[in-house]
This record gives sequence, structure tokens and C-alpha cells, in this order.
Amino acid sequence: MANIPNVKLNDGQFMPQIGLGLWKVEDAQADSIITQALDAGYRSLDGAAIYRNEMGLGKAIQNSLLPREELYITTKLWNDDQAEARKAFTQSMDKLKLKYLDLYLIHWPAPRKETYVQAWKTLIELKKEGLVKSIGVSNFQVEHLKRIMDETGVVPAINQIELHPQFQQKELRDFHTQCQIQTESWSPLGQGKILENFVIKTIGKKYGKTSAQVILKWHLQNQFVVIPKSVTPSRIKENINVFDFNLDADDLAKINELDSAAGRIGPNPMTADF
Ligand SMILES: NC(=O)c1ccc[n+]([C@@H]2O[C@H](COP(=O)([O-])OP(=O)(O)OC[C@H]3O[C@@H](n4cnc5c(N)ncnc54)[C@H](OP(=O)(O)O)[C@@H]3O)[C@@H](O)[C@H]2O)c1
Repeated sequence: MANIPNVKLNDGQFMPQIGLGLWKVEDAQADSIITQALDAGYRSLDGAAIYRNEMGLGKAIQNSLLPREELYITTKLWNDDQAEARKAFTQSMDKLKLKYLDLYLIHWPAPRKETYVQAWKTLIELKKEGLVKSIGVSNFQVEHLKRIMDETGVVPAINQIELHPQFQQKELRDFHTQCQIQTESWSPLGQGKILENFVIKTIGKKYGKTSAQVILKWHLQNQFVVIPKSVTPSRIKENINVFDFNLDADDLAKINELDSAAGRIGPNPMTADF
């Protein structure tokens, strides 16, 4: 079974560097998918209120024989609930059936709502009360990060952002490094769209690894946290079987060159206001 490395966050907590993404996993299917992932060695599970599968995630946690402290559970505050973050948190925890959460993230800044600072203040309280071990954000750009840090003095532990070889967000990552914010990559496989890329396939052949494994290794060697999603048992195993090889500097540089200004798949956080 894979021995997954941890990263140390700026609040002293440890987080597994690879976890299972749960977006588009049906609630009814979540229990069985997560159980397979735990059997394969995953310990970190990336949920969100808007994924509508917190009940299934909670069920899988309940059914697991693993001690709670071996699991790392993330959920996210949905945009419409930013002004009532405590209520939304309680609802998520009821569905998850948990006494504490490992990581709570503000899902998007949704800047036109003007409520993300208020939400961040509530997350700070939840952490102080011991209900959440670590707090962070998702899809925040430099100006949103600066604003919450300036207004509260509290640096998020994580920023979970769209990040894959065709959309590498170097400038934002440099800001993370400067502030000791851990970068976490969402859609790390580019939602499967970059698996046929010639450069990646060629590198895969060199190591006897699949494109998905090469891409995930690129994330890991760059010290990002990754949360690939799959509901396919063989892929769930494949995506965690990445600790028996290392990409060399030349391969890493070739993947760095795949970055493209047009590579974004998801919404732009500056304008996304759902
Ligand atoms: N914070 C945010 O705003 C945000 C936004 C998007 C995503 N996320 C998080 O990030 C996670 C991952 O992102 P994502 O789900 O968008 O995309 P992803 O993990 O980059 O790609 C998932 C897609 O790739 C396929 N796949 C997975 N492993 C594969 C493999 N080894 N070979 C071939 N195909 C493979 C999956 O298919 P099957 O499932 O059919 O196997 C699925 O269609 C999400 O689940 C969610 O937890 C967060």
C-alpha cells in the first residue's frame, strides 16, 4: 500500500500530499468509492457542501474501521452561505457526522457578494474553538488573499486552485510561497483532457507510467497537494501508485513548458459570482 507523504502547513498541522477529489461523485456512490480509496491507501478526502455528497462521505467515514485521526477530511463553505458560515458549517458537520474537521475552505471569493472577509472571520473562530484543525481558502487571487490577511492578520493554511500542466498559475504560487500558504491543485489532471498530450505520454513511456501518474508526480515534486478524482477502481489505485519513481529535471522542465495562458478549464475567480 502506498506510503503517502505529508506536508506541514503554516499552522503546524500535517496534511497528506495526495487525496481523493469528490466533485461529481454521486452521494449514493460515495460510500463505496471512498471505501475503495481507503483500501487503496488514501486517507485524505476532498469534499464540499456544493458537491451534495457530504452524507455519503459521512457514511464512508462511519463505516471505516480506521481511527478518526488517521483520516483527513476537507469540506468547503459554499458562496451563498458566506454571510452565515457558522450555520453552513454546522449543517456540513451534521451530514459528515464529525466532531471536528481537518480542513475548512471558503470555496470561492465570489467578490461581488462582499462577504468573504466576514466568512474568513467565522472560520478563524471555528479554528479557535477547536472545531476545525486548519482553515484555508480556494480560488483566491492575490488581492483576495491580501485583503483577508490585512483585515484579520491570519494567513490561510491552504489555497486550493485550478492547477495542471496547461494552467500553472506561477505568479499566484510565488505569492503563496512568500506567505507560506500551501498550494493545493484542483483538477490536477486537467479533468482528463491533457492525458493524450504527446510530451506527457512520451515521458510516461520512459518510466513505464501512465500520463496520469506522470502529471501527478509533477505536482508532487513541485510540493503541491493533489486531489485527483476518479470513480473507476483501477484509476483510483493508479493515481496513488506514484511513489516508486521520480521525474528528472529535464522532464519537469518539459512539463513546465506546457503552461498556457488559454489553459484555464474552470471559471475565472475574479468574475465568477455564482
Ligand atoms: N475548489 C474548487 O473550486 C474545485 C473545482 C474543481 C475541482 N475541485 C476538486 O478537485 C478534484 C479533482 O478535480 P476534477 O474532478 O475537476 O478533475 P481531475 O481530477 O483533474 O480529473 C478527473 C477526471 O479524470 C478522470 N481520471 C481520473 N484518473 C484518471 C486516470 N488515471 N486515467 C484516466 N482518466 C482519469 C476521471 O474519470 P473517472 O472518474 O470516470 O475515472 C474524471 O473524468 C475534484 O473532485 C474536487 O474535489 C475543486
